[in-house]
Amino acid sequence: MAVSRGSLLNRAVRRVLRQGDVIRQAEFVTFKPKGFVAAENPPELLGRHYYEVMHLRRSLGLMTELNVKPGRSLEIGCGFGRLSPYIAEHFEQHTAVDINNWALSQASQFYPHVAFSSASATELPFPEHSFDAVITWTVLQHVPNSLIDKALKEIKRVAKSNSLLILCEATLNAATPQEDGQHTHDRFPEFYAKAFPSRSLLVSEFIGEIDRIPSMASPGRIMVFGPAS
Ligand SMILES: C[S@@+](CC[C@H](N)C(=O)[O-])C[C@H]1O[C@@H](n2cnc3c(N)ncnc32)[C@H](O)[C@@H]1O
Repeated sequence: MAVSRGSLLNRAVRRVLRQGDVIRQAEFVTFKPKGFVAAENPPELLGRHYYEVMHLRRSLGLMTELNVKPGRSLEIGCGFGRLSPYIAEHFEQHTAVDINNWALSQASQFYPHVAFSSASATELPFPEHSFDAVITWTVLQHVPNSLIDKALKEIKRVAKSNSLLILCEATLNAATPQEDGQHTHDRFPEFYAKAFPSRSLLVSEFIGEIDRIPSMASPGRIMVFGPAS
């Protein structure tokens, strides 16, 4: 899908504005309350959230045709859990982890039916082949280059072979050289595809509805990987 210059500019401006919301936590970054989901005002926030949920549900809907069991799902980097209940409605048991304890306490209060716990993408406290789906939504883009392979290995380890992987991550600026202190690391979809060589990349698209709203931009590229062959 083509992305307009305006949309690229918006994304760059948004990044600069969001630096103030970033907190460094050991080798990772997390956010102050307003920084988890970037939006200038309530209409933008609700519009963005609506279209993200729509695409997330559409991606999860692929489970049926792929014969993926609705057993256990894992959401890595759930923030304050705004997407967790939508994932939970597709599975018997949904587990969501993050490194930010403030966000997890908010999430537990709002969505008591989801099991929230503190863990890093790079060290998932779950046995291998535990989950029928693993979801990251604008999370791996915040994992530094030195640790991204470790995080992807962990995802592969905890996912069942007959599982769905759904990532929504920044990719647009993957060709741009990285700057010191940068907290978002855009990576090509091919980079993620290489990490899951036995899976097909079934969906690779931006959220066009958000890109078409003046002043807004898709938070990332949705990449859905099917079961391992
Ligand atoms: C941009 S927020 C997105 C939150 C949520 N997925 C959403 O869309 O509302 C990125 C989240 O990733 C979390 N995060 C960053 N590094 C992480 C890591 N290594 N393991 C788990 N979560 C991480 C942050 O704490 C933050 O909650």
